[in-house]
Amino acid sequence: MSKRFPMPMPFGWFCISYSDELAAGAVRNVRYFERDMVLFRTASGKPALTGPVCPHLGAHLGHGGTVQGESIRCPFHHWQFDRDGIITDIPYAQRIPPKVDGKPCLKTYPVCEKNGVIWAWYHPEELPPDFEVLELAEFSDPDWSERDRYEWRFGSCPQEIAENGVDVAHFKYIHQMDAVPLGETTYEGHIRRSRVRGPRTVVNEAGEPEVIEYGIDVVQNGAGQKWTRFSGLVDYLLQVLVTPVDAETVDVRFVYTHPRYPEGSFRHRAVRDGIANTNGQRGLEGDIPIWHNKFHLREPLLCDGDGPIMRFRRYFAQFYVGGPYGDERSIPSDLEVASN
Ligand code: FES
Ligand SMILES: [Fe+2]
Repeated sequence: MSKRFPMPMPFGWFCISYSDELAAGAVRNVRYFERDMVLFRTASGKPALTGPVCPHLGAHLGHGGTVQGESIRCPFHHWQFDRDGIITDIPYAQRIPPKVDGKPCLKTYPVCEKNGVIWAWYHPEELPPDFEVLELAEFSDPDWSERDRYEWRFGSCPQEIAENGVDVAHFKYIHQMDAVPLGETTYEGHIRRSRVRGPRTVVNEAGEPEVIEYGIDVVQNGAGQKWTRFSGLVDYLLQVLVTPVDAETVDVRFVYTHPRYPEGSFRHRAVRDGIANTNGQRGLEGDIPIWHNKFHLREPLLCDGDGPIMRFRRYFAQFYVGGPYGDERSIPSDLEVASN
């Protein structure tokens, strides 16, 4: 919890690295969720995430630790630990201390790898994952482009960023966009989906205005994975990755892919424009100065032109242990779906 946000950090799967930032045999220090962790990749390619402190005599595994096969080796006395935190070797001992023989003694955290991203499961009470990261087929489709990635760090929290999508009134004032229809929204447990379809006038390849059907499909899968599929003149997919660094700081990563439109073609230029807009004032960078300074009001003063902000908050409340404000075990029920 922080001065600006009354909620704690939400639990869920969060991006802590891109896959290609961690080669086999690499060891990296990462700091998210207000804690230091050590990320490594074994010789066979599996990612692992541990606490930094060697249980032997407390050396920091992220400063001089090395990967040996499927284990990480502490720099101090060369004890080795596997991905589950179990000792695999003490080079100078006759036997592993019996109380930890075959049992985890180095702190480890759940981790998985999908969509070119290494995801860590954060839970303040260390409960195991109760849902999965969802795979997006476009990221492994050879007909879709290489990933195009952008990254920002600023003072905010995951809920504030997610809530922006239902704050329909701000699109005009921050993003200089016409009213953005909310579309059909469904809530199913930890997943929220919204679907917008409508006509839009665009300038076509011949330089003429043309009315086309466009679509925006958004899926939020817990607090740390969201994606948007844009369709119309061009198609593109944006995976939004929001990770709390601490209670008042987030990393936001945008990862795009799109069909391989020929370089220099009209559609290629159009998709580049779409991406620039989604990053820029008409998208994320329009919001950052507001997010970076705003406060989360538990009881905002809303009017009839505002979007379904409180309904969204009831959905997001399920990602906080004990509810967002720490005074309720809050899981939204299906009965609430109809109300705002
Ligand atoms: S402190 Fe790590 S092996 Fe001794
Ligand atoms: Fe916005």
